[in-house]
Amino acid sequence: MATTTDTVLEVCDLRTHFHTDDGLVKAVDGVSFSVRRGETLGLVGESGSGKSVACLSALRLVPTPPAAHPSGVIRFAGKDLLTLPERDLERLRGNRLAMIFQDPLTALNPYLSVGRQLTEVLEVHEGATPAAARRAAIEMLTRVGIPAAGQRIDQYPHQFSGGMRQRVMIAMALLCGPEVLFADEPTTALDVTIQAQILDLIGELQASLGTAVVLVTHDLGVVAGTADRVAVMYAGRIVEEGTTAEVFANPLHPYTQGLLASMPRIDTPSRQRLAAIPGLPPDLGQLPSGCPFHPRCQQAGDRCRQAYPEVVIASPTHRAACWETEAVS
Ligand SMILES: Nc1ncnc2c1ncn2[C@@H]1O[C@H](COP(=O)(O)OP(=O)(O)O)[C@@H](O)[C@H]1O
Ligand SMILES: [Mg+2]
Repeated sequence: MATTTDTVLEVCDLRTHFHTDDGLVKAVDGVSFSVRRGETLGLVGESGSGKSVACLSALRLVPTPPAAHPSGVIRFAGKDLLTLPERDLERLRGNRLAMIFQDPLTALNPYLSVGRQLTEVLEVHEGATPAAARRAAIEMLTRVGIPAAGQRIDQYPHQFSGGMRQRVMIAMALLCGPEVLFADEPTTALDVTIQAQILDLIGELQASLGTAVVLVTHDLGVVAGTADRVAVMYAGRIVEEGTTAEVFANPLHPYTQGLLASMPRIDTPSRQRLAAIPGLPPDLGQLPSGCPFHPRCQQAGDRCRQAYPEVVIASPTHRAACWETEAVS
């Protein structure tokens, strides 16, 4: 839970557009959010809604081209990460800012042993001795559930299974004790027990260091258990934002309502079919006019086909972009 109200990272009007053979793909199109010290913001939405690109853009890790340089402002430590010289940004990444990538191979260097990759951050950024860094790395590998970490630390990424590589990358992100951690589907590839263990570990880091976490997940169960606030993404934009309690108790956007209705619950019999949102997420290169959700929305009216919705404000912390929603709370 958030213990203070200081904002550590503020993303304002972020836009990341890809130039592809099929035209312009607006993967992230005017996204704004902030995270406070010690807080977890859950970023949810179906696959293809722009969650990963939003996180990668914040750390300027989207390859340009095919993407154009992201526009907007990302405030961290009194600086704008989007205009910071690359050298200065490199000093922050993997140190004060860390990311658990959806694809662990993105993060690991195939030519260096896992140990080298883990200890480097401690030796370079924190001045630890090689022996102390190795001890800390082995301890962290053990905590993320890697058996015989003392031996495995000298192996290379390809010697680890997919799930184990995921854990190595999580260990790497947590080891530097970041101020902001982007965790992109951090536990999707892992079994339930390890999943719980990893989420606990992230929670401990937050409690001891005040790390702010942006937790990307399509699993609303994970959000309910760990996030203080939720931002729901659809077609490259945030369509609803609120405290976790507000969004779960009173979802304003029909898309959020659909996500919640399709969430497996303990109190429904497992044979009962879940109400899935009809249709498919849109092609971001060919968005429909008006509200991009309107072709799938049972509440859509004429206005929804014509113009992007105005924001409905239900409380100082709860808002949504929908023409048909009444702000009752
Ligand atoms: N390298 C790329 N080139 C072109 N388009 C891309 C690239 N990476 C992502 N995209 C586009 O951005 C959209 C959002 O992707 P992503 O952020 O990975 O979604 P999510 O993480 O929500 O599943 C994708 O649907 C795709 O169209
Ligand atoms: Mg993703």
